[in-house]
Amino acid sequence: MVKVLFVCLGNICRSPMAEAVFRHKVKEAGLEDKISIDSAGIGHWHVGKPPHEGTRRILTENNIDYAGITARQISSEDLEEFDYIIAMDEENVRHLKKLALEEHHSKIVRLLELLPGSDILNVPDPYYTGNFEHVYELINNSCEHLLRHIQQREQL
Ligand code: 4NP
Repeated sequence: MVKVLFVCLGNICRSPMAEAVFRHKVKEAGLEDKISIDSAGIGHWHVGKPPHEGTRRILTENNIDYAGITARQISSEDLEEFDYIIAMDEENVRHLKKLALEEHHSKIVRLLELLPGSDILNVPDPYYTGNFEHVYELINNSCEHLLRHIQQREQL
């Protein structure tokens, strides 16, 4: 099993959106037995809560299921356990690298680094901007590339 973890600050806007979108694509590709998916937040503030209403709305509009997704905080074990740790921005990467042993640093990448030609590398935080549509578009496009990247590397 290849294990993929999406990480953002609060685990209620961006990373649960990426988890739901990526889960959808993995299912469509018939790879749900090969790739497992989760998300977590750097902060603890929203632990146990469902995704933000803006994230729920955009996922519903796009017929993407988010049932069962609730916020949790990242732990140092996650950095060992997961194979791909996909951060939403550089602040997340900084926190993750503090938490991870040096040998795990290469597993940590920013989602938008996988989007060819992207003029931004940090997924803007809709908790502050309110722009869930733009974030959905970025996440949807880059998750497409993430899946291809993993399929290629893992020969799936
Ligand atoms: P997220 O957005 O990292 O995309 O889930 C945030 C959600 C909550 C907070 C910050 C960012 N917060 O400070 O509570």
